[in-house]
Amino acid sequence: MKSKSKIVLLICVSLVLIACFCFFSSKVSRPSETGNETTGTGVEGTENETAAVTLAETAPETEPETETEEATEETQAKTEPETEPETEPETVFIPIETQPLKPGEVQVTGITLTIYDLSLNVGETRMPIVTMTPNNATDKGEIWVSSDTNIATVDRYGNIYGVAAGECTVTVTSTSNSAVYAEVKVKVKAEVTELTYIDGILIANKTYALPKTYAPGWNTEGAAQLNVMFAAAQTEGIYLKMQSGYRSYTDQYIIYNDYVARDGQAAADRYSARPGHSEHQTGLAFDLTTTYYNGLWEGFADTPEGKWVAENCHKYGFIIRYPKEKEHITGYMYEPWHVRYIGVEKATAVYESGLCLEEYLNITSSYS
Ligand code: DAL
Ligand code: ZN
Repeated sequence: MKSKSKIVLLICVSLVLIACFCFFSSKVSRPSETGNETTGTGVEGTENETAAVTLAETAPETEPETETEEATEETQAKTEPETEPETEPETVFIPIETQPLKPGEVQVTGITLTIYDLSLNVGETRMPIVTMTPNNATDKGEIWVSSDTNIATVDRYGNIYGVAAGECTVTVTSTSNSAVYAEVKVKVKAEVTELTYIDGILIANKTYALPKTYAPGWNTEGAAQLNVMFAAAQTEGIYLKMQSGYRSYTDQYIIYNDYVARDGQAAADRYSARPGHSEHQTGLAFDLTTTYYNGLWEGFADTPEGKWVAENCHKYGFIIRYPKEKEHITGYMYEPWHVRYIGVEKATAVYESGLCLEEYLNITSSYS
């Protein structure tokens, strides 16, 4: 009898324990499930963390030592889904949070960029230069994010890489002040694979780009005609010198980006072609100066050498490619030193028309 009543008592205690466990486990699981549905912000993630902690704390109490193996497995099966939210906050939190300032630290309050509108080809990389203000800000760290990495990616230094044709936005945010950020509108253009000839003239301007891989080197005919022109000028007491000629895509990439870093993109675009858009990449363009001056300057137009070139270069197949007061058409400011070889016949026709090449061919020159 005694042992019978003991068994009955044990069964009763076990039933009570199981009932208690079921009651508590249902109470504990509901808040975390609700939290799970609404995760998406840091605050909600924090609530989840609390729920997960509560569950962990109550779990040992709800593990009846006397239960059978099956019962234990059943309990684990019930509790396992409830323990999942513990890991979720880690994936929910993406903290671009401003760290509290320590005494003496100065927060970033503004960001300026050298480039806000970026047009690049697939496979091309460009990096806007960032200036964070004030100058004495303690932490000038940057966080770079692309709105669409299928179009353009960006690394932690701000190198923006064109992946596929399309448009997206790249944002740089201050690590010390998440309210301070700047955006670059990125347009990735399909890679140029073909040369554009209009009326038999190879075109490289803001509208028409050259393939990145196009690397013809110096144009033999153009370079020979340049020598003929220099010799002819010399007989008239005009001493010309070539300052620069052929430039590869990479050369242009480097110099253009240096100019952008120095003067900003808007200013650089007035006097330097973006990579793939320079006539120097054709091997048919030459920058001239005098033998007594080592450099390119607008004053060249007023020197005897500059005047001679303007009046005579067409006889040797060259045109002044970016004439005065034609910037709104050519896309570039006056460059009295930059001549382009197109052959004597065509150069003479352009010279006599008084038009710039874009007007003469009725084409545009603008970055889309
Ligand atoms: N200076 C001319 C526009 C060039 O960069 O090709
Ligand atoms: Zn030039």
